[in-house]
Amino acid sequence: MKNNHAAELRRVAKTVSDKVARKDSISPILRTIAVTGGKGGVGKTNVATNLAIAMAQLGKRVGILDADLGLANVDVMLHVNPRYTLKHVVTGEKKIEDIIVKGPLGISVIAGSSGIKTMADLPVQIHKKLISELHRLNNLIDILIIDTPAGIGNNVLSFVLAADEILAVTIPDPMAYTDAYALIKVISRWRQDAQINLLINMVRTAAQAREVAEILKTVVRKYNLPLGRISYAGYIPYDSKIKNSLLNRKQTPFMLENPDSLSVKCIQVIAKRMISSLAQHSVDKNFFSQFEQIREKGQGK
Ligand SMILES: Nc1ncnc2c1ncn2[C@@H]1O[C@H](COP(=O)(O)OP(=O)(O)O)[C@@H](O)[C@H]1O
Ligand SMILES: [Mg+2]
Repeated sequence: MKNNHAAELRRVAKTVSDKVARKDSISPILRTIAVTGGKGGVGKTNVATNLAIAMAQLGKRVGILDADLGLANVDVMLHVNPRYTLKHVVTGEKKIEDIIVKGPLGISVIAGSSGIKTMADLPVQIHKKLISELHRLNNLIDILIIDTPAGIGNNVLSFVLAADEILAVTIPDPMAYTDAYALIKVISRWRQDAQINLLINMVRTAAQAREVAEILKTVVRKYNLPLGRISYAGYIPYDSKIKNSLLNRKQTPFMLENPDSLSVKCIQVIAKRMISSLAQHSVDKNFFSQFEQIREKGQGK
C-alpha cells in the first residue's frame, strides 16, 4: 500500500515535471532564420551575427550557420576559428557536435561548406545523414541563424527555402532592392508559404526604411507573388561604428561594445519580432520536414 502510494506520487510528480518542462521549453524543436538578400555588401553577415548576440542576450540558445564562404564572415566577426565544416559531417568524419565552436554568449558557430551541393542533388543516403545530424541540434540550440552569400541559385538555396523565417536584408538603393525583389521571386517559386521579413539596413531615417519596405511589398502584391507572408521586420541606421567594428582589433562584437546605441536598440527590436514570429510556427512543419519536401520537389523538376 505504502509502495503503491509512493509509486503514484512519483507518477504524478513526473507528469507535473514533464508539463513544467514542456511549458518552460521555448520550443520543442529547433527554429531557423535564413538571413539573405539579393546583393553582397548589404550587411547580411552583420545582421546575422548581431541578431545572434541579441537573441542570446534574450536567453535563447543560438546557433549560427556560416554558409557565406566569402571573406570577412561570421568567424571573423565572432572571433572564432572553426577547424571543421559541415562537409566533415556529410562525409561522416565528424558528428555535428564536433564541428561546433563556441562564440560570445555561448553562441554555437557552425561552418558551412562549399563542398556541399544543393540538397536536392545530394545522394539520398548522404541527404539522410545530414538531416539526422542536423536533427541533433534540437538538443543544443533553440534558434539557428543561417548566414548566406549573395545571389540566387547558390548551394545554400535549400537552407534558405527550408528555414522557418527568411530575413531579407536590403539597403535603400534601387539596385539593391531590385535584387532583393528578384530573390523573393525565386523563393516564392519554390515555397508558396515562405515567411519573408524585410530588414532595411544602412538607412538615414526610419521613414526611409518604411518607404523601401512599402515599395517591395507593393511590387510583390502587384505581381501576385505567392508568399505566406511579407512583412517589415525593422531597420538599422547607417552607423560608422558598425562600419569600423571589423577594424576594431579589440575584437569585441559591436552589440556588446555599444549597448546604448540606436543601432543596437534597432537590432534588439528585430530580434524580439523574429522570436515572436518563430513562436507562431507549428511543430509539424519545420526545417527538417521542409528539407525533405525540397528534395522531392527538386527531383520532380
Ligand atoms: N548599418 C550599417 N552601418 C554601417 N556599415 C554597415 C552597416 N551594416 C553593415 N555595414 C558594413 O557594410 C559592409 C558589408 O557588410 P556585411 O555584413 O559583410 O555584408 P554582406 O554579408 O551582405 O556582404 C561591412 O563593412 C559592414 O561593416
Ligand atoms: Mg556576408
